[in-house]
Amino acid sequence: MCFNWVMNRRRPIGHVQSNRAVWDGWAAEYVEPGRLAWDDDKPRWGIYGVPETDVGLFEPFEGGDVVELGCGTAYVSAWLARRGGRPVGIDNSAAQLATAASFQKEFDLRFPLIHGDAEKLPFADESFDFAISEYGAAIWCDPYRWLPEAGRVLRPGGRLAFLGNSVLMTLCVFDDNEPASDRLQRPQFGMHRLEWPDDPGVEFHISHGDRIQLLRDCGFEVENLIELQPPVDAEETRYPYVQLDWARQWPTEEAWIVRKTG
Ligand SMILES: C[S@@+](CC[C@H](N)C(=O)[O-])C[C@H]1O[C@@H](n2cnc3c(N)ncnc32)[C@H](O)[C@@H]1O
Repeated sequence: MCFNWVMNRRRPIGHVQSNRAVWDGWAAEYVEPGRLAWDDDKPRWGIYGVPETDVGLFEPFEGGDVVELGCGTAYVSAWLARRGGRPVGIDNSAAQLATAASFQKEFDLRFPLIHGDAEKLPFADESFDFAISEYGAAIWCDPYRWLPEAGRVLRPGGRLAFLGNSVLMTLCVFDDNEPASDRLQRPQFGMHRLEWPDDPGVEFHISHGDRIQLLRDCGFEVENLIELQPPVDAEETRYPYVQLDWARQWPTEEAWIVRKTG
């Protein structure tokens, strides 16, 4: 096994640049899924499409200023705009944003799209009521950089919701993308930056204990940690790293809902 957590948080970073190239290259694969999500106003989350009614990432959603961190094709922002929010989508990939802009025309729904880095948000302090990330900053940004930024741009009492791979699955998946097993494949202590062999993308995953400590340091209190289960009618996904049988026994994905105190 050649797996290695990169533990030094102060190491000079190149992941924003390399992930930009990665996502510019993958953008074409996300056009059709993005169109389906824009066209469907019943929000569904994650790789198994768990209904919002079972997850509650939005609820209670009271409108206001919203930022989607790593918006990709920006269907989450579209859902929020249709619910009375004023979203801004920010993404590191110009190609993903080009798709998002094309859907704004196709579905006649406009909101600002910004080409930028969720680890260095180009927004004033306390600009937003709600921040959200579904597999955007949530896994592609360094949590020690993006969570302080999310805390900075949220107003006191504002909520942050984010969803990505579960810690448990991240510990059980094989290096070569073979589906997660029922055995731990790597240590939890030290988990942070994750680079898969033969994959130029850089992900970030930290333990629940480290996450809670970091959230508290950023001025958040945890309202909920939801471990997603596939719906009864779920089917195998196009993602090789997990199979439905595994996902029915252990959480493949987890969603955090936190509120800025003060
Ligand atoms: C899987 S997409 C998330 C969008 C959508 N929710 C989805 O699931 O398809 C991941 C997005 O995160 C973006 N991303 C990666 N690193 C980022 C960064 N540092 N700042 C902003 N966006 C970033 C990528 O460009 C990509 O569009």
